[in-house]
Amino acid sequence: MRSFRRILVTGGAGFIGSHVVRHLVRKYPSIQIINLDKLTYAGNLENLTDIESATNYHFEKACITNEEQIARIFSKYAPDAIIHLAAESHVDRSIHSPLDFVRTNTVGTVNLLNQARLLWNGEFDDKIFYQVSTDEVYGSLGPSGYFTEWTPYDPRSPYSASKAGADHLVNAYHHTFGLPVIISNCSNNYGPYQFPEKLIPLIINNIKLGRQLPVYGDGTNVRDWLYVQDHVEAIDLVAHGGNLGHTYNVGGHNEHQNIELVHLLCDIMDEQLGEKVGTSRQLIEFVQDRPGHDQRYAIDAEKIRVELGWEPQTHVKEGLSLTVAWYMQQQEWLEHVTSGAYKAYYDAMYKAAAND
Ligand code: NAD
Ligand code: DAU
Repeated sequence: MRSFRRILVTGGAGFIGSHVVRHLVRKYPSIQIINLDKLTYAGNLENLTDIESATNYHFEKACITNEEQIARIFSKYAPDAIIHLAAESHVDRSIHSPLDFVRTNTVGTVNLLNQARLLWNGEFDDKIFYQVSTDEVYGSLGPSGYFTEWTPYDPRSPYSASKAGADHLVNAYHHTFGLPVIISNCSNNYGPYQFPEKLIPLIINNIKLGRQLPVYGDGTNVRDWLYVQDHVEAIDLVAHGGNLGHTYNVGGHNEHQNIELVHLLCDIMDEQLGEKVGTSRQLIEFVQDRPGHDQRYAIDAEKIRVELGWEPQTHVKEGLSLTVAWYMQQQEWLEHVTSGAYKAYYDAMYKAAAND
C-alpha cells in the first residue's frame, strides 16, 4: 500500500471530482488535499461548501493546459499523488467542438505528465499519477460481451478519442520514462452534483420543470450505471493499492436501456412528487439520435474485485432514489448551474433536435 502526504486532484470542482475531494478530505485529515480546477461551466465550488473550511483542503484555480500555472502549483505543494479528473466530459459537446476536447483532455494531460516528471525527477517511491478515464475508449458493444482491461481501444466520439489519446500518453510516459502511472476506466456515473446536461439529472430537472424528456433515437442504447460514491471508493483503493502501469475497469453490473432507465426515473419522480405513477412518462419524446451514438457499454470489473476487493455497493433503485431526493432539495444549486451559458447551450442543442 502506498502512503501519501499531499494528494492533488484535478477537476475537483466537477461532479465526480467533488465527491473524490470530499471523501479524501474527510477520510484522511492528515493528508493535504489540493483541488486544482479551472471552474469551467461544469466546475462549481458550491459542490464543496461543506468541506471548504477544512484545514487539509486547498483550492487552486488553474487550467491544466497552462505550463506556468501547473509548474507553479506543483512546486508550491509538491504533491506525491496526482488524481487526474479534469476534462471536458460531455459527448454531445464534443461533437460540436472537438478541438476543445483535444486541448483539455489530451494536451492538458500531457502537460500534467511533463510537470509530474519534472517535479519527481526520477524519485518515484510512493508517487502516483492516476488517470481517471472512461469505458467509452473501448468503443461500442453488441448485445453480448463485456469490456475487459484487454479489450482494444476503439473510441468513436471526439470525447472518447481525446480520452483514449490521453490514456495512451499516460502509458507511454510509464514505458518511456518510468513514470508511476495507473489508469481506471469507469462506466456511467450518477448521483448528486452531476451537471444537468447528462441524462439522469437532465430528466429529473425536466420533470421538475414539466418539460419534454428527450430520449435519443429509439431509446435502446444501453449504459452500465454506477453510483458515484462507489466510483470514489474504487478510486481510493486503486490510488493506494493498484499495480503501477496497470489498468482497472470499474462498472456497476447494472445495465439498462435508456428508455427503461427513463421509465424508472419517471416513476421514482412521480412517487416523490406525490403524482399518480405514469404522469411523468407522458413527457417522454423520442428525438433525433446522437451522431455515432454508441449502442452499448458494459464493464467486466473482475480484476478490481479480485485484486483490490472492490464491488459496487449501491443498488440502482436505492441510488436513483437518493439522487432524485437530492435534486428535489437542491433548487438553488440547480438554478445557479442552469443559468447563463448552460441555458444558451441547452436551447441551441434541443432546438436543433426538435427541428429535425
Ligand atoms: P465534469 O464535467 O462534471 O467535471 C469536470 C471538471 O474539470 C470541472 O470541474 C471543470 O471545471 C474541470 N476542468 C475542465 N477543463 C479544465 C481545465 N482545462 N483545467 C482545469 N480544470 C478543468 O466531469 P465528471 O463527469 O465529473 O468526470 C470527471 C472525470 O471522470 C473525467 O475525466 C471523465 O472523463 C471521467 N469519467 C466520467 C464518467 C461519468 O460518468 N461522468 C465516467 C467515467 C469516467
Ligand atoms: O461511460 C462513461 C461516460 O458516461 C463518461 O465518460 C462521460 O463523461 C459521461 O458523460 C457519460 O457519457 P454518456 O454519453 O453515456 O452519458 P449521457 O448522460 O450524455 O448519456 C447517457 C445515454 O443517454 C446515452 O446513450 C445518450 C442518452 N441521452 C442523453 C441525453 C443527454 C438521451 O437519450 N437524451 C439526452 O438528452
